[in-house]
Amino acid sequence: MASQMMDDVLRNIRENLKGNGILACSGGTDSSVLAVLSAMVAGEAVKTIFINTGLLRIGEKERVQKLFADFHINGEIVDASERFLGNLNGVTDPEKKRKIIGETFVRVFEEIAKNSGAKYLLQGTIAPDWIESGGKNRDSIKSHHNVGGLPEKMDLKLIEPLRDLYKDEVRQISKEIGLDEYLQPFPGPGLAVRIIGEVTKERLDRLRRATKIVEETIEMKYSPEDRPWQYFAVYVPVKTTGVHGDKRSYGDTIALRAVNSMDAMTATFSRIDWDTMEEISVRISNEIEGINRVVYDVTHKPPGTIEWE
Ligand code: XMP
Repeated sequence: MASQMMDDVLRNIRENLKGNGILACSGGTDSSVLAVLSAMVAGEAVKTIFINTGLLRIGEKERVQKLFADFHINGEIVDASERFLGNLNGVTDPEKKRKIIGETFVRVFEEIAKNSGAKYLLQGTIAPDWIESGGKNRDSIKSHHNVGGLPEKMDLKLIEPLRDLYKDEVRQISKEIGLDEYLQPFPGPGLAVRIIGEVTKERLDRLRRATKIVEETIEMKYSPEDRPWQYFAVYVPVKTTGVHGDKRSYGDTIALRAVNSMDAMTATFSRIDWDTMEEISVRISNEIEGINRVVYDVTHKPPGTIEWE
């Protein structure tokens, strides 16, 4: 029997969806949970679109393909990477980046929706997204792409069945439907908010490889229940001097971020053991050309947010 929480979400979809819908799936927990629940309620009437933004991690597309197949989701992967990277060209301000990504997402969806005849856009917005994006009397901390980036004039009706839930509650549902093993929290704007300043192909490539090293090492060293809640690499385009062999190097920095949290509203930095940190640091600086320094972020939330942008 489904939990009350899951029943409420299923009912919300049933009551609001009066025709064909498309669903924006970023591959993260929230939108993936929504994709599965929507497929349960509406089957083929909901088309789940996964957009390859060019801001994804290694293996992300394949993981989503498997998710679609395993949960009988009517899904499609659309490659819009050149469009996203083109729109982000030269942009350095974090909020501008988020708005551009949000807007590009919606534009791409609208184009797909026009052809599919969909009237509804389902989104996996959860409570912290709109709270932190600045509601009434609230300061905007950052525009989560599924809220602040939405252009005012949308041709689609928005349905957000998870908007009253917190991260731990969505995770509970994801466990309930057997989705948990497929997921790691990943922000909608993807690696763009993990590259400080301008997003370039070179930085993306380096960050992807660093991310893989962080994930592989932590997943090898820690059992699922002992792993930090979220762990990833951040690209910091600050150059420092180093040595490679007997030559001087002058390269960029990768920051390692690992946090524990219940609901993403607050978080504490994880006390990862030194051996794990050493392995990550040695591999990143040896294997990724252009990176010669690795630092660990020891900032709680607050005052830091989990992502750096
Ligand atoms: P912050 O950085 O706000 O992150 O402390 C809290 C949690 O949310 C994820 N995150 C996002 N998720 N769209 C999303 O769907 C976004 O724009 C976004 N920004 C951050 C972040 O990875 C963390 O788990």
